[in-house]
Formats: sequence, C-alpha cells, structure tokens
Amino acid sequence: MPLFDTHAHYQDNAFRRDREELLAALSAAGVQAVVIPGVDVESSREALALAETHQGLYAAAGIHPEDCAGCGDGDFAAIRDLCAREKVVAVGEIGLDYYWKENPPKEFQQEVFRRQLALARELDLPVSVHDREAHGDSLEIVREFPGVRGVFHCFSGSPEMAEELIKRGWYLGFDGPITYKNAKRAPEVAAVTPLDRILVETDAPYLSPVPNRGKRNDSRNLPYIVEKLAEWKGVSPEEMAQITWENGLRLFNRIKL
Ligand code: NI
Repeated sequence: MPLFDTHAHYQDNAFRRDREELLAALSAAGVQAVVIPGVDVESSREALALAETHQGLYAAAGIHPEDCAGCGDGDFAAIRDLCAREKVVAVGEIGLDYYWKENPPKEFQQEVFRRQLALARELDLPVSVHDREAHGDSLEIVREFPGVRGVFHCFSGSPEMAEELIKRGWYLGFDGPITYKNAKRAPEVAAVTPLDRILVETDAPYLSPVPNRGKRNDSRNLPYIVEKLAEWKGVSPEEMAQITWENGLRLFNRIKL
C-alpha cells in the first residue's frame, strides 16, 4: 500500500546527521510521496532542493505565522518565484498561531496569511494551513477566498468547524496526536469527515504517534496514524492508506507520478 505524508519538515536541523539515509529508507517503508512545507523563504528553498534531488519528495513554499516577523515584499516575491518551480505543489505552511505570546501581532499574521492565500488563488495552487488557537479568525479569513482549496494541517478545531471547511471543499490533516490517550476531539472530527477529505501527515520531526511519542518523528510512523483512522472509520488500514494516497494526489494535483 502506498503512503502519502502530506506534511513533513525534512529540511529541519533535526535531520542534519542522517537525512540522506532516512530519505532513502522511506520508500522501503511504503512512503511513496511526501510534501515538505517551508516556514520562511530559506526553508522553502531547502524544501525545494530536497524535492528536486529526490524522487517522491515535493515542496510547499510559504511563510509560517511563527516565522513571519519582519517579512515584506521581497519575501513574498521570493515565495512567488519558488511557486513557479515544477516540484513546488502548494503554498505552505501559512496561517495563524495565537498560542505563543512572542509570535508577531495577530493583525500582522493575518495580513501575511491573506497575502499568501491571494497568491495561491492567483497561481491556482492548494495551500497548507497552520491554525493554532486561532480557529475563528482562520475560518473567517479562508471564507474571504472561496476559490482557494487546501488542507487544515493537524486540524484541532471543533467538529462544527470541520463540517464548515468540508462544505467549502477543504481537506483535514490528521497527525500523531490522534493516537494519544487524551485525544477527545479527533474521533469526533473524524466521524464528520468524509473519507475523501482525510489526509495523513507526520509533521516530522514533531508530533510522533504512540508508540514512539517523544522521539523524533518521520514518515515511517505514518501507519500508526493510518491504523487509528481506519479503526475510527471502519475500513481496513490498507483501504485507508489507499484512500489517503488518492486524496493527496487529488489535492496536490501538480504532482505527476
Ligand atoms: Ni508543520
């Protein structure tokens, strides 16, 4: 069964020592496609460099809300240039993060988010959205861009918000935390999410699923997330892997296998 990790940060420093060995091991573990999102211009370039040198790896280019301090026209122009490259398949990761006090002001985050949604609309690219403790504003802003489609990565909103996003054509990303004992909302969100809108992600190097919680994460942990979703949705793990593989290819439609 092919596996598609739609969100993993393989340009991260956490992989500096063994990146090539690890990337080489992914296809043996069934991971046939990975989208590597950027968090700023530099990491978006690094994501593209990995994508251009490895089969099955793809990049997203974008400025993350936690990393947007001081960003301006030059940065947006650089992201736009990156989006013209064949192996950049999305704008991301973009969004709002109200969790950390030291993050840039909300209004600035919102402006950066809107500019990148406008870019995605203009270039007809999907987006990967980061929404942490900012559900109301995230929903309100994506509503302003009805033509833009994408995924709410590591979705943490309510089942009602999930339904609203699904109605608007969005996908939801499920990550390692759905395997944690205290995951209460995730099964409720999964229950209202149709099979054809589910994506599986690791967010590597973060968010390792049980039984590897606390360790560095990588795409080889994807089956734990697939198995949990399969259990909740009443399908086999093989079917869930196949469905999420097809969903990933449908959303990130610049990918040519
Ligand atoms: Ni991420």
